[in-house]
Amino acid sequence: MSTATRTTPETKPVIATGVPSAPPLPDDLEALLRRLRLPHIRRHAPQVLATAKAQRWEPAEVLRALFGVEAAGRERSALATRRASAAFPTGKTFDAWTAEASSIPAPTQQALRTLEWVHRRENLVVCGPSGTGKTFLLEALGQQAVEAGLKVAWFTLEDLGVLLRRHRADDTVSKAITRVLRADLVVVDDIGLLPVAQDAAEGLYRLVDAAYEKRSVAVSSNLHPAAFDELMPKTLATATVDRLLHHAHVCQTSGDSVRLSQALAGQGVRPLA
Ligand SMILES: Nc1ncnc2c1ncn2[C@@H]1O[C@H](COP(=O)(O)OP(=O)(O)OP(=O)(O)O)[C@@H](O)[C@H]1O
Ligand SMILES: [Mg+2]
Repeated sequence: MSTATRTTPETKPVIATGVPSAPPLPDDLEALLRRLRLPHIRRHAPQVLATAKAQRWEPAEVLRALFGVEAAGRERSALATRRASAAFPTGKTFDAWTAEASSIPAPTQQALRTLEWVHRRENLVVCGPSGTGKTFLLEALGQQAVEAGLKVAWFTLEDLGVLLRRHRADDTVSKAITRVLRADLVVVDDIGLLPVAQDAAEGLYRLVDAAYEKRSVAVSSNLHPAAFDELMPKTLATATVDRLLHHAHVCQTSGDSVRLSQALAGQGVRPLA
């Protein structure tokens, strides 16, 4: 094995300095990698092989480097796919979150961020006035779950109504809900700003019922779920809330709207000139 200064042949060894330019792969090898669907090896192999030759790597190290780039590349693609299929509303993560600006106690925030509640298939209800970070918290938790390898599905109540209408015609609502529940965490954002349409109320019930004790559901609402019967038919509300709250963490947000404080502090926009 070479003892010269060298890159470690793991996931990012391929941009080695001082390595002669990498010749392209022979056509048959290129074709084989294409056939075996190893796109990341195909892309990085010329550089890895050139580095390996220049630094006299052990054969096992070459394999480790090649499969390392494939594994890392696949993880990156899977993350991008999970993120895209979650369809988050803004793309915000905990990087932009100010813990002190939230009225949720810091230990609770910390406990939520561990995502253990998702692994335990418990629910989360975040309720409180407008602008107090409910949607942001759910999105940041969702992003964290996606980063941790979990699948997340993001819905508004309106989306649930659309889902129900689309699948009621051909009687495939149960199938559609089962597909939604491939996600480990299903978020329903913004219950309680407007009266809930019948389709959406039914969609929410079907979702919460199907997810009960099987998947985590997180909802944000301006109202405590106990008051959902103000928004939807009482029988549906009772059945939904009963299942939702049985294993749920309820976090109440309070205080002034962060939107309003940011606007009043001149942080809502970038100056025009
Ligand atoms: N803890 C926080 N740190 C940084 N920004 C925050 C925080 N909480 C809220 N904000 C910002 O305040 C704004 C309002 O937050 P958000 O949309 O999450 O509120 P909400 O409670 O969902 O309101 P609504 O009930 O109207 O839907 C967003 O721009 C969000 O980024
Ligand atoms: Mg919101």
